Amino acid sequence: MLLHVPDLLTPDQVADLRRRLADAPWVDGRATVGGQGAQVKRNRQLDEFSPVGQELGRTVLQALLANPLYMSAALPLRHMPPLFNCYEGGEHYGLHVDGAIRSVPGTTLQMRTDLSCTLFLAGPHEYDGGELEIVDTYGTHEVKLPAGDLVLYPSGSLHRVHPVTRGARVASFFWVQSLVRDTARRRTLFELDQNIQALREQVGDNAAVLGLTGHYHNLVRAWSEV
Ligand code: NI
Repeated sequence: MLLHVPDLLTPDQVADLRRRLADAPWVDGRATVGGQGAQVKRNRQLDEFSPVGQELGRTVLQALLANPLYMSAALPLRHMPPLFNCYEGGEHYGLHVDGAIRSVPGTTLQMRTDLSCTLFLAGPHEYDGGELEIVDTYGTHEVKLPAGDLVLYPSGSLHRVHPVTRGARVASFFWVQSLVRDTARRRTLFELDQNIQALREQVGDNAAVLGLTGHYHNLVRAWSEV
């Protein structure tokens, strides 16, 4: 399931991040990728150990944890600290899949990548090209979102970033290990939760809504890994 989360960051937060990223230490994007990805990845990203990158990453994480749509869809157990990248002058990232297991920088912890996320920090009018193309069982999707918006998709999907032919595409990207490993189950829980929320808006907390809420939590209990 591919999900668009609008307005994860406010315009003020985006402007602040962009201002601070402008002076930050950018390195070759191949620093954080395995063999297959290294052959097709051409971009720059913020040094993952840079203090400014870590601080900006915490801002993104706080916004994620406060966003009900994101939390309902991702059911996160662990987040990789958000990284930041920039594509310009024809830079691109060819077709690839994200590695299944990643080490969390600065720790001995490993995590499984269930979901991949891109948070757009440049508006579509600022650059040409740079679409994130995601191939899933429903076909091929091209994603280019307003600054502050996020897309989330299963990490097992083949994806690429098209060459940026004008301007600069600035984004944050990261991976999530979900409490619910299976994509179909995660989607079932998301749809059930969204429908319960809609029903609650319409009829309030009657016995049937409470019953369905209990059913949702029992499914999370059955399917989650903690
Ligand atoms: Ni990727």
